[in-house]
Amino acid sequence: MIVSHNLNAIINNMNQKNFFITTPIYYVNDRPHIGHAYTTVAADVLARWHKQRGEEVFFLTGTDEHGAKVAESAKKAGKTPKDFCDENSRLFRFAFDQLNISYDYFIRTTDDRHEKSVAKFMQKLYDQEDIYESMYEGLYCTGCENFLTEKELVDGKCPDHLKVPEKISEKNYFFKLTKYLPQVKKMIENDEILIMPKDKKKEALGLFKQDLSDFSVSRENVQWGIPLPFDKKQVTYVWVEALQNYISAIGYGDDRENFEKWWQNPFHIMAKDILKFHCIYWPALLLAVGEKTPKQVFLHGFFSINGQKMSKSIGNVIDPNDLVAKYGSDATRYLLLSQFPFGQDGDIKQEKFDEQFNADLANGLGNIVSRVANLIEQSETKIKPTGSDELFNNISNDISELRFHDAIKKIFEVISDLNGELQKVKPWEMSKSDVVRGEFLNKIASELLSVSKAIMPFMPETARQIEERFSKDTITKGTPLFPRI
Ligand code: MSP
Repeated sequence: MIVSHNLNAIINNMNQKNFFITTPIYYVNDRPHIGHAYTTVAADVLARWHKQRGEEVFFLTGTDEHGAKVAESAKKAGKTPKDFCDENSRLFRFAFDQLNISYDYFIRTTDDRHEKSVAKFMQKLYDQEDIYESMYEGLYCTGCENFLTEKELVDGKCPDHLKVPEKISEKNYFFKLTKYLPQVKKMIENDEILIMPKDKKKEALGLFKQDLSDFSVSRENVQWGIPLPFDKKQVTYVWVEALQNYISAIGYGDDRENFEKWWQNPFHIMAKDILKFHCIYWPALLLAVGEKTPKQVFLHGFFSINGQKMSKSIGNVIDPNDLVAKYGSDATRYLLLSQFPFGQDGDIKQEKFDEQFNADLANGLGNIVSRVANLIEQSETKIKPTGSDELFNNISNDISELRFHDAIKKIFEVISDLNGELQKVKPWEMSKSDVVRGEFLNKIASELLSVSKAIMPFMPETARQIEERFSKDTITKGTPLFPRI
């Protein structure tokens, strides 16, 4: 029998008691943009959905604050690295709060707790001789915070950051990656580390065909970092400590019980740009220290803006706060996740947002909620709607497999059908005391309650308002959910 990824994912999701979900931790050299918002909203949908099913959830996000890139940006801004990080980390937290992200913990890699945990981890690797000293000579791209090979360059430049990488020659400590590669490969092959979607699993396995070699876990000429406990002249390579946020946040260094509670079934979400770190290096590091590897890694696509890469130099970076100010938090979440299937690459056309907001939210969901509530308010028969779980259950597989786009589509089809029915039956032409009118409105309002349950992970505030409006003893029209733009 061929067990599909999806089936595996569902079984995994169903068997778990605790759900630990993470986003990447974001570099603070930059302000938050909708790329960061996109991943974090997606993780929030999953976190809220698991909570809704009564599971215990721990949702982790945060900021990645060390390394040459951040130090250079701080210098440019005329600030100390710490002040610079404090300010920018706050911007991320603010943006995520604006988006109503229900994170349980916001980690900063400059947290004392994280630093201590990392030191412990590095010492363990050193003590068991999984790291050794060697000279490093090669090319380093500060934008990637990564070493590049000649082969990876395009016209002598890093293809992602369009900059000539720096030639580095220094003493470094290396991790014996090669020792753990066969085991990591096997675990990816048999889905013990479940990499989704399928094309990303293939991509990860493809990496084993290239020359994966031991990699440097320290930097000699960078000061802004966590010193290696066994050689204080070197700091831990920023990627190696950043990955450890996923375990330091739950108590790897100081709270074994809590760590074991959450490290049963970790689920990492990110975009495909950081696949190698999460699918190869991270599992290998964990195997080395004798811990479990992540169970599921989901790598979504990258989006462009009007066909172009989102970048400061092009000037097309979208600030999530601007979207929230214009559309509100729920509509921003909706607009971000409804553009293209999660997991694929896609394009975002901001000028279409107004149109979509008006069509789907103002004239669609918002309109039917107001109209039905208004008709019920005028009604002279008793109306007591009750929702069902049918729609929620219908989209259950879509959400557990992160097909958010499909789930949203199904919900909005129901909304559009309800609007159609209303248009056909025209209850406003019936007498306010007509029993048929009352029953019809009761049915539509009940369906709206079902919609609110299904839509909750995507649009938590809207769901709460719909629920509140139709659960009251006296139903009133209320204010519009989405005033037209
Ligand atoms: N600090 C590292 C991650 C360390 S995790 C242990 C990092 N930070 S980052 O700020 O560059 O964030 C990268 C992530 O931001 C991507 O993996 C993705 O989640 C999100 N995105 C950034 N731009 C994006 C798009 N244009 N499209 C989709 N996601 C985007 O890498």
